[in-house]
Amino acid sequence: MKTQVCIIGGGPSGLLLSQLLHLKGIATIVLERQSRNYVLGRIRAGVLESGFAGLMREAQCGERMDREGEVHHGFYIAHHGRTDRIDLTKYSGGQSVLVYGQTEVTRDLYEARERLGGQVVHNAADVKPHDLMSDTPFVTYTHNGQPQRVDCEYVVGADGFHGVSRQSIPKDVLREYERVYPFGWLGVLSRTKPVSPELIYANHERGFALCSLRSQVMSRYYVQVPLTDKADDWSDAAFWAELKRRLPGDVAANLMIGPSIEKSIAPLRSYVAEPMRYGRLFLAGDSAHIVPPTGAKGLNSAGSDIYYLYHAMVEHYSRGSDAELDAYSQKALARIWKAQRFSWWMTSLLHKFPDNSEFQVRLQQTDLNYLFSSDAAQRSLAENYVGLPY
Ligand code: APR
Ligand code: PHB
Repeated sequence: MKTQVCIIGGGPSGLLLSQLLHLKGIATIVLERQSRNYVLGRIRAGVLESGFAGLMREAQCGERMDREGEVHHGFYIAHHGRTDRIDLTKYSGGQSVLVYGQTEVTRDLYEARERLGGQVVHNAADVKPHDLMSDTPFVTYTHNGQPQRVDCEYVVGADGFHGVSRQSIPKDVLREYERVYPFGWLGVLSRTKPVSPELIYANHERGFALCSLRSQVMSRYYVQVPLTDKADDWSDAAFWAELKRRLPGDVAANLMIGPSIEKSIAPLRSYVAEPMRYGRLFLAGDSAHIVPPTGAKGLNSAGSDIYYLYHAMVEHYSRGSDAELDAYSQKALARIWKAQRFSWWMTSLLHKFPDNSEFQVRLQQTDLNYLFSSDAAQRSLAENYVGLPY
C-alpha cells in the first residue's frame, strides 16, 4: 500500500490527525493493534479544553459533542472541612470546559473516519516502522497472518505509551524524564445521577477523591489507593463507603450509589520523551508523554500535539514549506511541559503523599489556603485548567 502519512495507533490522537489531514486532501492510513470494540471499551477522562473541542469541530466531529457535552464554568475543591469553588469563567476571561467522555470522542472520530471512507486497519500485528532517516520510510505489519507493507512520506507514532514508535528512536537520541507517584486512582463508572452538577476534587486525610460525570445519568468517581491494591480487592460497597468518607458530609449524604459498570486502577505517572521527531517519524500524544490524571490534561495534551502536527503537515503539503515540521518537536514540547507542570502541581496539591514530612503537609495546606485567598492564584489555576493557548 502507498499513502502520504502512515499513522500508527488508532486512539484519539491518530484518528483526529487522520480526519483533519483527510479534510485537507492529505492521504493517511491508520494502523491499530486492537479491535475497534477494544479501543472503545477503554474509559478515560472526560474534560475537554475549548482548543480540543475546536479541533473536533474543525474535523467535522463536533456535532454530538456540542449536543451532549456539558459546558462547565467551574469546579469545587473540598479541603480541611471547607468546600471552595474555582470560577473558571470569571478567572479565565470568559472561558469554560466541556465535559464529554474520551470514549465518546473516540467513537465520534471512528464514525467520521468511516463516513469519509478513511482507511483504518484494525488488528494490525507486529507493526514496525523502517528507514525513518531516509526520504522513503515504510511501515510493515501482519494482518490475518499476511505480511503487509505501507510505503509513505511520513510516519506518525500515535500508538500510546506502550507503542512501538518511540522504541524506534535510538537510545542515544531519546531523552526520557519521568516521575512515578506512590499511589493510583481506583475509578468507578456507574449509571447514577452525579452527586454534584460540577466536579468535586477532594483533598482528605484518608487520600484524594474525585466526583466527576459523563452525563446527568452517568457518574465517574475516583479514590486514591496504594499501588499494591487490585481493583478486584474492592467490592462496590467498599468503594462507595471509602468515597463517602472522603467527601464533605452534605455531599456524602446525597451520593447515589449503584452497581459499577467499570472499575479499574490507574497508576499515576509523569513522563516526557524528547525529541518528538526522529527523521520522518513524528510522535504525538501518549507515545511521547503521560500526565497524572489530576486536571484531565492527557487527551488535551494529545490535542495540542495534533494541532501543531496538523498545521505543519498542511504547511508542507500545500505550501511546500518544512519550517513548521522542523519546529514541531520544540513547539509541542513547550506546551507539553506546561501541562506537565500543571498536572504535577494539581496532583501535589490534592493527594496524600505517604512519605511527606509534617513540613510538606503544612506547605500543601498553605498552598490551598493561598489559592483561595488570592485572585492571582485562582486566575493561574483557571488559565491552565481551561487550557493554555496553542
Ligand atoms: N501498533 C499499532 N497500534 C498500537 C500499537 C502498535 N504497536 N501499540 C499501541 N497501539 C494503539 C493502542 O491500541 C491504542 O488504541 O495505539 C493507540 C494509542 O491510543 P491512546 O493510548 O489512547 O493514546 P492517544 O491516542 O495518544 O490518546 C491520548 O489517551 O491514554 C489517553 O491519557 C491519554 O487521554 C489521553 C489520550
Ligand atoms: C474524569 O471524568 O474521568 C476526570 C475528570 C477530571 C479529572 C480527571 C478525570 O481531573
